[in-house]
Amino acid sequence: MKTRITELFGIEYPILLSGMSWISIPKMVAAVSNAGGLGILATGPLNAEQTRQAIREIRSLTDKPFGANATLMFPGAVENARVLLQEKVPVINFSLGKGDWIVKGAHAYGGKVIATVVNARHARRAEEYGADGVIATGHEAAAHGEAVTSLVLVPSLADAVKIPVIAAGGFADGRGLAAALALGAEGIAMGTRFMTTKESPLHANFKQLSIEKGVADTFASLRIDGIPCRVLKTKAAEKAERRGLNLIAAFFNSREIAQQIRIPYFKLFLGVIASGWKNARQLAFLANAFKAFHLATENGDLEKGVLPVGQVTGLLHDEPTVKEVIERMVAEAKLVREKLTGQLG
Ligand SMILES: Cc1cc2nc3c(=O)[nH]c(=O)nc-3n(C[C@H](O)[C@H](O)[C@H](O)COP(=O)(O)O)c2cc1C
Repeated sequence: MKTRITELFGIEYPILLSGMSWISIPKMVAAVSNAGGLGILATGPLNAEQTRQAIREIRSLTDKPFGANATLMFPGAVENARVLLQEKVPVINFSLGKGDWIVKGAHAYGGKVIATVVNARHARRAEEYGADGVIATGHEAAAHGEAVTSLVLVPSLADAVKIPVIAAGGFADGRGLAAALALGAEGIAMGTRFMTTKESPLHANFKQLSIEKGVADTFASLRIDGIPCRVLKTKAAEKAERRGLNLIAAFFNSREIAQQIRIPYFKLFLGVIASGWKNARQLAFLANAFKAFHLATENGDLEKGVLPVGQVTGLLHDEPTVKEVIERMVAEAKLVREKLTGQLG
């Protein structure tokens, strides 16, 4: 296949693995890149040293192009993004923050940068400071989509910017791939579909649920991690939403985060307090959500675990390999083209 995205990244198919915390680990990244797409490492749960190790591991598993993300609102993300630049990662994807310095740093060694955005204002800003593309995340997406669905968001961003748009949120098969290209996207990024594959480290309890659940079995709420976040509808997720922000739990959970990213807790605590109540509240929400996401992905904890999942969970009926997902999508998209040629004349 040939689109501006395949040309830009030097890949065979315009299909990206979204950066998903605890899921987009080196072996997943390599599986997607080796199958002709672009794997993106999630650095959210990693500290700087672990990020460096993960990049080296990816390089030992594939010689194909790959990417890594930095969710700039997370503690430790700026340090991780610096490692991505030092390691000359071919494609850097940043979200939830201003990444102009990442664009500058990556372009200095010939790297590419894509910004995850949810509206035209953010997309134009990313274009202005030189991003090579944007990922448009629609309402259907797992985790942080906003109010507008991909069906409307993708063409609106394709009209708003000249750089290529990658559609995310609501894509799981060849029909979705063909539809995204028809809407003006140059490729797609998928989270939920790749999360339920043989190579995915997602716990079997949640892989099973993800296959069983229907298109209406997710919900988006501000009360999971403080920004609109879509998760699988389970008893634990509904309880977390009812409870909202639990400051005592946040105190203990943020201690774990400080340990994980290896900064002294008092430094993290003082930094958070100094950043003002709004930011502190947001980080407290994130600390609790991180804990619940981790319990779901790694431990399969159905009592306390909460899992970000997109509406496409209702389109998943099996657990294929990453290669099978990509091959099936490409074949199906070509069938759609033939059908459309017949229908459109
Ligand atoms: C388990 C899980 C963890 C995620 N973690 C992150 C993250 O750390 N940072 C981020 O920007 N997006 C994260 N996402 C969102 C994905 O990057 C992506 O936007 C979304 O999965 C696309 O929608 P889809 O699931 O319909 O394909 C996560 C998604 C899932 C399913």
